Amino acid sequence: MYVVILAGGSGTRFWPLSRKAHPKQLMSVFGGKSMLQRTVERVIPLNPKRILVVTNHLQADETRRQLEYLRGIRIDVIEEPMGRNTAPAISLAATLIARHDPEAVMAVLPADHYIADEDAFCAALQRGREPAMNGWLVTFGILPDRPETGYGYIEADRHLRGDGPYPVKRFVEKPDAATAAQYLAAGGFYWNSGMFMWRADVILDRIANHMPDLARAFAGIAFDADIWEPADLAPQIEAVYAMVSGQSIDYGVMEKADNVLVLPASFGWSDVGSWSALPGLIAPDGDGTVRLAGETVISVDSAGCVVRGEKLVALVGVRDLVVVDTPDALMVCARDGAQDVRKIVEELERRG
Ligand code: GDD
Ligand code: MG
Repeated sequence: MYVVILAGGSGTRFWPLSRKAHPKQLMSVFGGKSMLQRTVERVIPLNPKRILVVTNHLQADETRRQLEYLRGIRIDVIEEPMGRNTAPAISLAATLIARHDPEAVMAVLPADHYIADEDAFCAALQRGREPAMNGWLVTFGILPDRPETGYGYIEADRHLRGDGPYPVKRFVEKPDAATAAQYLAAGGFYWNSGMFMWRADVILDRIANHMPDLARAFAGIAFDADIWEPADLAPQIEAVYAMVSGQSIDYGVMEKADNVLVLPASFGWSDVGSWSALPGLIAPDGDGTVRLAGETVISVDSAGCVVRGEKLVALVGVRDLVVVDTPDALMVCARDGAQDVRKIVEELERRG
């Protein structure tokens, strides 16, 4: 099995801690290892033939630096000249793998997710292997508990609550709130965890079918099967990326393909979408404050706050705030408004 880790997202919702060159996957959200380091370590028990980390050139140096300590393991950091969303990143990885080993199964994993039970996670990937070898596009489905609009919804073709796997009737990426509520009420839907498993040749064939422009851009170049040194690949990758537009694999392929399978997953999953996801994942202290990375916080008559600071942070009489202090920015926001932190980043970009 090959493992492809998608690590090129910009993670704007963790501002001011996440920045362009230092997004969520490179952050130590839970203290200690970064999300990316945890993602790589999590797949080592699967003994993958190769691990490809696909990332943006802005983040590449830090990505390589963070993975240096895993010297004994073959990890290739592949640089994209610019972010073009997940479909080009997956095409790139699949093209490289297919030149070596066309029928190889590849697991595609986001670099910035939280998994509670790592053994169950590895067992789920092992279960996905056989259907992937048989030509399925395997997804890992999470039972939804709210009408979240930031996820893909997967309808299994049978309304079962067993272990699956189940063929997929339809895949709907990021439905509006009313549709998401309808799916939740109807039952039989899973959230797409954003992790996939398929054969390299099968996903390339689906891309050729549903995203012909993208397939053409990649077909025009010749990656030498023996070339894996990322620096040698750079000019060719640049030429391809100049031709492709940004599109996610979810809209581009998953919504359209007819060979999709869902494996219900119960390994404790969160995509850690914003500061407000952390109270569910990090145990609060006695006073209800979630301290990230052992901050010094004095809390008087306050509750439900998430604090990350480089100096002493004192809270008096406040509830459900997120307070993040960095050397050049201080952010205070309501816990239930944390999704909108990206609006600050947009405003900063407007101001230049
Ligand atoms: N290399 C690379 N290049 N990686 C990228 C790029 C890119 O241009 N854009 C995003 N990624 C990485 C992100 O870092 C993340 O690990 C993963 O690809 C998914 O991208 P997101 O941008 O986080 O996608 P999403 O959260 O909106 O939606 C996806 O994940 C949801 C679950 O968290 C979809 O697959 C949804 O269907 C799914 O429910
Ligand atoms: Mg995401």
